[in-house]
Amino acid sequence: MDDGADLVSTLHKDRRELLDNVRGGTEETTTGVIRLRAMANNGALEYPIIAVNDAMTKHFFDNRYGTGQSTIDGIVRATNILLAGKTFVVAGYGWCGRGLAMRARGMGANVIVTEVDPLAALEAVMDGFRVMPMEEAAPIGDIFCTLTGDINVIDQHHFDRMKDGAIVSNSGHFNVEVNIPSLESMAVEKRKPREFIEQYILPDGRSLNLLGEGRLINLAAAEGHPASVMDMSFANQALSLEYLFKHAEELENMVYTIPEDIDREIARMKLEEMGVEIDTLTEEQETYLASWEEGT
Ligand SMILES: NC(=O)c1ccc[n+]([C@@H]2O[C@H](COP(=O)([O-])OP(=O)(O)OC[C@H]3O[C@@H](n4cnc5c(N)ncnc54)[C@H](O)[C@@H]3O)[C@@H](O)[C@H]2O)c1
Repeated sequence: MDDGADLVSTLHKDRRELLDNVRGGTEETTTGVIRLRAMANNGALEYPIIAVNDAMTKHFFDNRYGTGQSTIDGIVRATNILLAGKTFVVAGYGWCGRGLAMRARGMGANVIVTEVDPLAALEAVMDGFRVMPMEEAAPIGDIFCTLTGDINVIDQHHFDRMKDGAIVSNSGHFNVEVNIPSLESMAVEKRKPREFIEQYILPDGRSLNLLGEGRLINLAAAEGHPASVMDMSFANQALSLEYLFKHAEELENMVYTIPEDIDREIARMKLEEMGVEIDTLTEEQETYLASWEEGT
């Protein structure tokens, strides 16, 4: 079971003698899945992987509601800032970004979204958010958070334009989304006003506040996702391993999505645990929905 493809990469690079005994593996997060797909495309992957992140019962919920809530929690615990009325810039409108944007709006912030993908950007616009390049958002944002899996999403030319007192954070996979080395090199002084704040004083007197050293702020300053959303992610992990154990011989050294019936079964169990009942298709409805002749 991997999270970020670290185990896979160690096994493939440094402990190759162990590979023979591995039947398959699972991967938890978006960034890991991207890396593993690249490995599979290069023919470098030595065993099948199930991309737990691609399960609907994972990214619809863990990435969106888990990251959305816990990122707000991390930012608030680190700063004790009042979100109401602040301009909150969310970089990346993927599953995590959607969750954070939704929750920040719920707390009364004016949310701006930055994106590179036209579809995601369009969705953000139609969800009612302001969308603009980071270059334009930089001078108006009070709080920034990156959730892209990409590097240097907030860079020197953005720091150059930020307001005095701006807060910069990351909740994507790693501490490379914010260009910290450039912030370090720009600063004439560094202070530590609170436990999770590194305050950089720039030559013109502005101070920029980096949270949690640019690491995932929901893990650095808060407690990560609540258990009641991780239960679905871990159910995906466990059931993926069972599936791999039973089907490893039929699978190639590729990245697979969890079978949809397992995904739906996890949703069914979660609803049951929450005490929520839903309707069941009648025989008549099943026939109607399966028939092309009755579609008029
Ligand atoms: N903090 C956590 O606990 C947590 C939980 C789950 C996932 N993650 C990580 O968060 C990151 C995002 O995950 P996701 O599931 O939302 O991924 P996603 O692929 O659904 O979304 C990422 C979005 O970022 C956009 N993007 C890429 N480069 C950009 C740039 N330079 N500027 C603006 N937007 C850019 C992409 O177009 C995409 O829409 C990943 O690195 C993932 O591993 C963190």
